[in-house]
Order: sequence, then C-alpha cells, then structure tokens
Amino acid sequence: MEQIEFAKSGLMTSRIGLGTWAMGGWMWGGTDEAQSIATIRSAIDRGVTLIDTAPVYGFGRSEEIVGKALEGSLRRKVTIATKVGLAWKDGAVYRDSRPARIRKEIEDSLRRLRTDVIDLYQVHWPDFETPIAETARTLEDLRRDGKIRAIGVSNFSPTQMRMFSANAQLDAVQPPYNLFEREIEADVLPYAVGAGLTILSYGALCRGLLSGRMTANTKFDGDDLRNVDPKFQGKRYPQYLAAVDELKKLAHERFGKSGLALAVRWVLDQGPTIALWGARNPSQLNPIGDVEGWHIDLAAKGEIDAILKRCIVNPVSPAFMAPPVTRPKEQEAA
Ligand SMILES: NC(=O)c1ccc[n+]([C@@H]2O[C@H](COP(=O)([O-])OP(=O)(O)OC[C@H]3O[C@@H](n4cnc5c(N)ncnc54)[C@H](OP(=O)(O)O)[C@@H]3O)[C@@H](O)[C@H]2O)c1
Repeated sequence: MEQIEFAKSGLMTSRIGLGTWAMGGWMWGGTDEAQSIATIRSAIDRGVTLIDTAPVYGFGRSEEIVGKALEGSLRRKVTIATKVGLAWKDGAVYRDSRPARIRKEIEDSLRRLRTDVIDLYQVHWPDFETPIAETARTLEDLRRDGKIRAIGVSNFSPTQMRMFSANAQLDAVQPPYNLFEREIEADVLPYAVGAGLTILSYGALCRGLLSGRMTANTKFDGDDLRNVDPKFQGKRYPQYLAAVDELKKLAHERFGKSGLALAVRWVLDQGPTIALWGARNPSQLNPIGDVEGWHIDLAAKGEIDAILKRCIVNPVSPAFMAPPVTRPKEQEAA
C-alpha cells in the first residue's frame, strides 16, 4: 500500500486511513461492535496503518472499539489519530478547546484507546471562544510530555492554522475533501501544501454517496445523518446520483475500475493526501486493492470536472456537519 510521511513528525502511514465515525453509532443509525472490530482488523490485514477516531464518535464508543480491536500486538502496527475539543451534554455537542478540557480529554482518550500515547492528536473544530494560541501551546506541552507524537487540526481555515502554527508545530490538517466537496481547493489545500502539512481528507466517499451503492430508493435507519444531509434530499439527490452514474462509466471505460476506486484514487492524486474511508464491515474494504497502482491523468480529471459541472446544478457544501459555534452558558464556568 502507498505510504506517506508526516514530514515534520517522522510518522509514516498508509495513504488510506480507516474512518471509524460510523462505528460509534451516533448519527449513523447504530453500530455493531463485533463487526466494527472485525473491520478494523481486516483493514490492518489489508495494509492500512492509520485509524482515525474521535471522542465524540458515539460519545466514547468509537474510541473504545478501536482500543479493543488493537489491544495487544496490533497496537504497534498502527498509527492512531484521534481528536480533542468537542464536548457533549445530554447528546448536544459543543466546542471546547480550553486547556483544562484538553488535559482531561486526553486522559479519557488514552484510557478508552488502551494505549499510553496518541500518535496524531487533532483539534476537531476551531473553538471561537478560546484563544488558538492557548490550545496550540497545550498540545505542544502534551507532545513534550510524551502523551502525543504529532499535532493536527481539523476544519480550520488557513488564518486559524497560521495562528496555531505560531505557537506549536503543526503536522497535519483534516478537512472534508472528496469529488463532491472541493471547497478546500480555494484555500486550505494550497496552504497545507505550502506549509508542508499532511492532509487527511475526510469523507472520501462523501458519506457513501460515491460508493455506487445508493439509489433513489435507499433508506437510512434511525438517526443516520444521511436523513438530513442536504446532498441526499429533494432535487439535489438525483443530481448527485446522476453524477455517480457518469463517474462509474468513466472509471470503467478509461481505467477498468469501479466508481468507488475512482473516487478514492482521485483524492490520492490531488496532493500530499490521505483518504479517510469510513467502513463498518470488512467486505466494504474489498475494493482497497483497486485503488493502488494507477493514476488519474489530467485529461480524465478534466472529464471528471465536466461531469460534475453538467450533473450537479445545485451543489451544496458539507457545512451542515459543523457543531454550534457558541458554548451553552452553563459550560462557561466549567
Ligand atoms: N474531522 C471531521 O470533522 C470529520 C468529519 C467527518 C468524517 N471524519 C472522518 O473521516 C472518516 C470518513 O468519513 P465518513 O465515514 O463520514 O464518510 P465516508 O468515508 O465518505 O463514507 C462512509 C460510508 O460509506 C459507505 N461505504 C464504505 N465502503 C463502502 C463500500 N465498499 N460499498 C458501499 N458503501 C460503502 C458506508 O456506508 P453505510 O453506512 O451505508 O454502510 C460507510 O459508512 C470518518 O469515519 C471520520 O474518521 C472526520
């Protein structure tokens, strides 16, 4: 499997990372622990050495599952990327990157993950009520103390990353990036390339939309976020499905590959990127081998752009996933 070095930290991982948000169950209509553990172990068998999780995924559940799956000799084989800076109360999520919260959260994550060090620690969302410098310095202190190896931010703008980097050595950034969500090309992507950051592209399959499995009749269970995701609603959904059909045809005719393989390959051919691929059962990882050993040439990239422009007349960003920007008042004194 292709590898990438996190230039400043010395970490090296596979360019495909396993995403474990859905394994937490929350916002994905529930989870199956045994299947999740089997999926993590299957990913490692297939050469994946990066597992991305977060405390908020299932309010601790995803981290616990990752910890269980890796306990013992597997832990040494993988890079664990988790996050910090989202808190929750009664199912409501809010941003909190204050130093005291970070120092508590890391102990909770280490315990759930059954490890004594987190390889990549990422601030999940910018907290507008805490100075970025304070957050950055706290993470640098954790690195100095040997609790984390590398530092990342997620959903940060270039301006926020500049402020962060003035106070800590930033190694990676985790933005949304896939064929249907390309907003970072205007700012975050060029900034990250210039600053030598590794880019962990999240939602490589656009929450399954680019997997090729979705049809007009696909239904999602319970609290599955795709019941409210604007790409899966109303007049937009058929536009995205039509684009998937055309992308499938192009992938097949030009490269003899599936639409899913094209989507993941495209992310990897855009720069110093990692594709975070969420899966909840081992068979969903069967196409991994199809992503390796080929590239999308410039002409095909042009055709892809034309397909997207032709099919998707009402594009929409992934902004619906952003948590509220202000903390509940009772948390201010906490
Ligand atoms: N930093 C952030 O703010 C942030 C935000 C979002 C995600 N992330 C990270 O990025 C990771 C990936 O993103 P994501 O999980 O949201 O979305 P994703 O990778 O775009 O899509 C995941 C979904 O795609 C479907 N899928 C995967 N392989 C498939 C296959 N072979 N055939 C058919 N369907 C397949 C599954 O859907 P079904 O459930 O229908 O089976 C799976 O749950 C997350 O797990 C998380 O680690 C980070």
